[in-house]
Amino acid sequence: MLKIRAVFALLVPVTHALLRFSCSQLVVERADPLVNPGVLQSPHVHQIIGGNSFNTTMDPTLAPADQATCTTCTFAEDFSNYWTAVLYFRARNGTFKRVPQKGNVGFEASKGGMTVYYTPTLASGAAKGGVTAFKKGFRMIVGNPTYRTEAQAKQFRQLTYTCLKNMNTRTDETLDFPKKPCTAGIMVNVRFPTCWDGKNLDSPDHMAHVAYPSSGTFENNGPCPSTHPVKLPQLFFETIFATEKFADQSLWPTDGSQPFVWSFGDATGYGNHGDYVFGWKGDSLQKAMDSNCNINCPQLKTQSIDVGNKCAQAQKVTEDVDGWVPELPGGMPMS
Ligand SMILES: *[C@@H]1O[C@H](CO)[C@@H](O)[C@H](O)[C@H]1NC(C)=O
Ligand SMILES: *[C@@H]1O[C@H](CO)[C@@H](O)[C@H](O)[C@H]1NC(C)=O
Repeated sequence: MLKIRAVFALLVPVTHALLRFSCSQLVVERADPLVNPGVLQSPHVHQIIGGNSFNTTMDPTLAPADQATCTTCTFAEDFSNYWTAVLYFRARNGTFKRVPQKGNVGFEASKGGMTVYYTPTLASGAAKGGVTAFKKGFRMIVGNPTYRTEAQAKQFRQLTYTCLKNMNTRTDETLDFPKKPCTAGIMVNVRFPTCWDGKNLDSPDHMAHVAYPSSGTFENNGPCPSTHPVKLPQLFFETIFATEKFADQSLWPTDGSQPFVWSFGDATGYGNHGDYVFGWKGDSLQKAMDSNCNINCPQLKTQSIDVGNKCAQAQKVTEDVDGWVPELPGGMPMS
């Protein structure tokens, strides 16, 4: 008994502050207000979560919290939008089917979607109030859908895949798609840079206004570079794709390769990317960050997963994202 207690004490971090919450799927469609603003159908399919003010154009001067009437997130003051591409299974006969997302541990009731984290610090004993929350109008992208090599993917830190042996697997992250079947699915991990230039809410490539720590990592409290001196919370999302639904090896490629492909035609996985439009109500996120609350945050209003599941949007242009299709939506080539 004593022995077990000692081990347990070692595993539990002394200080640990983060928000961890579930946001269900709002819509799956070809929309991308950052890369293709105003375009009714963007080149590839995304799954979007968060506030229902998501649109093909999102005016940075309008607060999503004022425009939206509901959110799919369990923190009810979060009307932000978060989106990633979606995975498709390519069967041996060459046709495609979208891989559905599923809820994470503790969030099994959620309709698809993602798990979102905002971490003010992971450093033991760090002072409170060390991070500046994102501001109204802030948006950013991490990752690049045109990348197909490991060298390219390494320009970003911590865009990875976890091959889930069970729902609690959290080790052995890779930069490319798992090569072998993952019995509980594939978790896609998207962690954003944590330093801001303090001035620009966006930039032409949606990335230049943010940067990684100049040395060390966010996790070990590395400093921000002088060009981007403002420390942000670490925004991180996990998306779990239920690839185990496609376990039948007789449908996998005959050459032994893995059958999953991003909606933008990437079968390597190196093009992993995520998008963010800030939309927390007022200063609720700053307050939560300042309190260093952990997972359950009494400062914030919450709603049940069931309520979040009911917040949904219709596709702006109807397109089949559930059935077997002869090509990726938008005619996106494999590249
Ligand atoms: C999206 O924008 C269009 C065009 O401005 C508008 O008609 C529509 O109501 C908007 N939808 C939402 C959900 O805000
Ligand atoms: C391709 O294979 C899948 C999986 O077996 C099947 O459901 C689908 O109907 C097939 N499509 C064609 C065009 O044969």
